[in-house]
Amino acid sequence: MIPFVSDARPLAILTSGGDAPGMNAVIRAVAKVAASQGVPVVGVEDGYTGLLEGRLRPLTVPESDGSLGVDPEMDFLGSVGGTVLGSARELRFLTPEGRAPAVRTMASLRGLVVVGGNGSLAGAHALAAESETPVIGIPASIDHDVGCTGTSIGVDTALNTIVAACDAICDTARAHRRAFVVEVMGRDCGYLAMAAAVATGAEAVLFREQGRDEDEIVASLERAVRHAFAERHKRRVLILKAEGVTIPCTRLVRRVQQRLGEGFGVDVRATVLGHLVRGGRPSFQDRMVAGRLGLAAVAAVLQGESDQMVAWQAIVPGGTPTPDSAVTRFGLARVLEESRALVDGSSPITQRRVRMMETIEGVLGL
Ligand code: F6P
Repeated sequence: MIPFVSDARPLAILTSGGDAPGMNAVIRAVAKVAASQGVPVVGVEDGYTGLLEGRLRPLTVPESDGSLGVDPEMDFLGSVGGTVLGSARELRFLTPEGRAPAVRTMASLRGLVVVGGNGSLAGAHALAAESETPVIGIPASIDHDVGCTGTSIGVDTALNTIVAACDAICDTARAHRRAFVVEVMGRDCGYLAMAAAVATGAEAVLFREQGRDEDEIVASLERAVRHAFAERHKRRVLILKAEGVTIPCTRLVRRVQQRLGEGFGVDVRATVLGHLVRGGRPSFQDRMVAGRLGLAAVAAVLQGESDQMVAWQAIVPGGTPTPDSAVTRFGLARVLEESRALVDGSSPITQRRVRMMETIEGVLGL
């Protein structure tokens, strides 16, 4: 049960950093759960920028019987991608001086729920230290680079979008016996490329964590394309490339094409999916995770907890269990430390991912 504590100040929610499908579903969940507890909710516009500028808008409405409701539009919101509150990457938030106006806004709030990826959670951690008001984070980033959580809101939808796009590209690739390099988002983390390569049955996958230089990458792709067409008589080759591999796709396919030579008779093409991967209607899983993390976040704020993230993670040492067996709370300092390790490659999770992909390299080629 969420304890009822009388306090007229509203709970605030903001979405920050790169948007992720499912953010609106979290906004809906937080507004409804808090309203059901008699706690008014305001949405902060444009992430930390709106918090600095005091741009708050009500998400709950007083009913004639004295209870609180939410705008009926809220029901529809959960099925829409992007974020209705807007988002931003706010550079002023990087320093205590820059954050000072936000700390002042915080005094008028009962609590703040921050929905976003690592940059946003770092901002939440800083605010929690500088303000008396409880701050709770919810992981939302398509990249799957947030520590201490089995998933982040948006990852599942992004993967579904990538798989659908690759299926469509493969239709035309098969028609012409072509090879396609498909680049997907993931600046610091190659998870989307790795997971999509498995799901689409791609012939190869490229991600920054492999640590390969350009010549090695070109040689490995040439081998994959030759093997697939000349020895396995395939009609298409699909190569997933993470954005973190910084060689531009156009240069990559030109170099592979040159090495194959004109006589090989196969076109190598490139498609960069870019921001397409970040939009679209959230999947069932992202909406469901959003709802359950939203519930846990409101409960944490109303219990006066702060400087924590609610994670989609069964209980592990160092985490605080919640009534939902799939949701555990972790201190934001630990989350940010694990996120850094995920990105710099020192995390056992990243090392296991890389080893797994090395193990299945031969399987992908079949
Ligand atoms: O949301 C994370 C991410 O999708 C990265 O993979 C990507 O590099 C980045 O956002 C790009 O975001 P923007 O173009 O909005 O700065």
